Amino acid sequence: MSDPRQELRDLTAAFRAHLEARGRCGALGVSLRPSPAAPPPPRSEEPDESLSPYPTPPPVLYDEGQVMHSGRGLTALRAEIGDCQRCKLAKGRTHIVFGTGNPEANLMFVGEAPGADEDAQGEPFVGAAGQLLTKMIQAMGYQRQDVYICNILKCRPPQNRNPEPDEIAACEQFLRKQIAIVQPRVIVALGKFAAHFLCGETTPITRLRGNLRTYHEIPVMPTYHPAFLLRDASRKGEAWADLKQVMALLNNMGLR
Ligand code: URA
Repeated sequence: MSDPRQELRDLTAAFRAHLEARGRCGALGVSLRPSPAAPPPPRSEEPDESLSPYPTPPPVLYDEGQVMHSGRGLTALRAEIGDCQRCKLAKGRTHIVFGTGNPEANLMFVGEAPGADEDAQGEPFVGAAGQLLTKMIQAMGYQRQDVYICNILKCRPPQNRNPEPDEIAACEQFLRKQIAIVQPRVIVALGKFAAHFLCGETTPITRLRGNLRTYHEIPVMPTYHPAFLLRDASRKGEAWADLKQVMALLNNMGLR
């Protein structure tokens, strides 16, 4: 005799495949996130959610009719930024450094602002700090293209000075939208600026790092910026401990 629950699961899978074939969910305004109406997976496939403080997917941050969870959503957002003149950094930049990686990544890394190499190449984290970040990502078992990488500011501050409040105010909308589009399950905040911005607190990074926080219910792990780790390699162990917590969290979500 056929199992009606199995039939429903097959139907759901076929519908999801159909939506993907039609150009992903965003075009149709339908989420591919597990729906509350979907039947539960067989017990053997269920992650041990009792271990995770984040057993369910985070809620969407915007109406899905407005924001597409897909590469097309990011393309539309990049178009919205255009030849941005919203702040004084526009004058000195070569490229707007938007973001790179998997538009549907489970894991997102957020840094501070592009440096000289990033400004020249138009891609985040490609200089010395970026090479260390790439090694950290690989140590976690991923490639750069598996995760999503971006910054708070999309343009390089002169002489790599700290971001100023008016620059963050002009640019933060784009990071918020990137997060809403990508819908990462975990975010790693690299350094003080990203950590303070995403965690909404100003605890020194030396105390904040390693302590899970949330951004709109998405878990955020604050850790040291790779540029800081290049200056003080003795802190790498702490950063690795933070990343191992992230790996454990993703494991508990059944995403690794
Ligand atoms: N530092 C950052 O915070 N971001 C980059 O993209 C490069 C260096």
